[in-house]
Amino acid sequence: MKQRDHAKLLASIAEEYERRSPRSASINRQALKCLVDGGSHTIRLVRPFPPRIVSAKGAYVTDEDGHRILDFWQGHHTNILGHNPPEVAEALARAFATGFGLQTGFTDELQVRAAEILCSRTGAERVRFTSSGSLATMYATLLSRAFTGRELVMKVGGGWHGAQPWGLVGVDFHTENSHNFEHTESRGLPSAVADQVIVTRFNDPAMLEAQFRKHGRRVACFIFEPFLGSGGCLPASREFLGAAREITRKHGALLIFDEVISGFRFCAGSSSRIFGVQPDLATFAKIMGGGMPVAAVAGRADVMALAGRGGGVKFSGGTYSCHPASMLASRVMMEHLVAAEQEIYPRLAALGEKARRIVEEAFASEGIRARCTGGGNDALPGSSLAAVHFPFTEDTACESPEQTRNPEVCDVELSDTVLQLALLLENVFVMHGLGSVSAAHTEEDIARLGEACRRAARRIAPFLQ
Ligand SMILES: Cc1ncc(COP(=O)(O)O)c(C=O)c1O
Repeated sequence: MKQRDHAKLLASIAEEYERRSPRSASINRQALKCLVDGGSHTIRLVRPFPPRIVSAKGAYVTDEDGHRILDFWQGHHTNILGHNPPEVAEALARAFATGFGLQTGFTDELQVRAAEILCSRTGAERVRFTSSGSLATMYATLLSRAFTGRELVMKVGGGWHGAQPWGLVGVDFHTENSHNFEHTESRGLPSAVADQVIVTRFNDPAMLEAQFRKHGRRVACFIFEPFLGSGGCLPASREFLGAAREITRKHGALLIFDEVISGFRFCAGSSSRIFGVQPDLATFAKIMGGGMPVAAVAGRADVMALAGRGGGVKFSGGTYSCHPASMLASRVMMEHLVAAEQEIYPRLAALGEKARRIVEEAFASEGIRARCTGGGNDALPGSSLAAVHFPFTEDTACESPEQTRNPEVCDVELSDTVLQLALLLENVFVMHGLGSVSAAHTEEDIARLGEACRRAARRIAPFLQ
């Protein structure tokens, strides 16, 4: 299918957006003089300019122009209790008031408690903390390569493991010259990286088997997200999870679950607890950090031992590793989620289900074909994630990143770019086609999302003829 040209539609939305956000527009002009593209995280830099946020509470953020925006991005899926949840914010305020929080550079008891919770809720034997998901996946990769003495890293097309060398292959679907995920995504990488990363297909056990038959003796690890995030918001199938465990074991490679999104998203712990498959290593960040920069590698004691004295893997964590304020937020968040697990997760799953249905219905009511992924499957009963896709044909199932991220199968510009700006006109913020529901969202917020999508669809529909 030929890709649609959305230039006119985008221009008309952008014009209205600029009119209603003069402060954010003006700050952006300033920003462009000192920050690359006006900011420091590519996907936050909505074009023509992002809303500049001044405060946030629960499901809402307020921007410089006074818009109260219903947020489904929630800190890159971090803020499962909503923005600035009192449980965490008050604990931090109390700590700062008593002289605790910014004394980076020591160790304390907090990190012991945080590690205990993480071990008990993930099945890991040892934990080491660091400060970003990218670092966690990089360290997990180093550990695997050192433990096995092998070179190759296997990942799935569409899998995002952050900006670290072995993660920067096979992230975006490319249509120039070839139609696949088999590309490096950044200039400046060591040339060996392109040969060291093998890309396989998500939820395709047969291809995984074939890739291991071909490369198995050289593969150090297979890393993937049990719930694919930016690659299309898709859960791993029971069959794929089982095959990943069995095949890696058979070939002497380590299995790494990147749980940066899925950890503490579906239950108060790793999603592997629900899926019933234990990886050798797992990476965590986002929710478990309570809104602060916390990440961890957690897993088998014999593998993690390589990060310790004499182990030879330079997993030093970094200056901000186990930052005391961050560890406090992390411990408070994890304790809260464990204590309130039975109330929080079933409600989130029900709201997520409702959000996905309402969004599909809103577009259908205006004659636009839309599919919302993000729901669970036979291995995962419920989910609070959602991403809308606009397939060109009725029979597209939207079940793989090869479909959801291929601009000739789904209208990727419509879901990623046009929809985001159109919903901003309705004071709703989404990313990658939507985002996630937090515990701070209400039934009314979900109804508001539906109404906003209906209005956005009305604006979009005439341009799709
Ligand atoms: C699955 C996954 N892994 C790793 C990362 C990288 O984490 P960070 O942005 O904290 O470096 C992300 C970030 O979105 C992610 O979604």
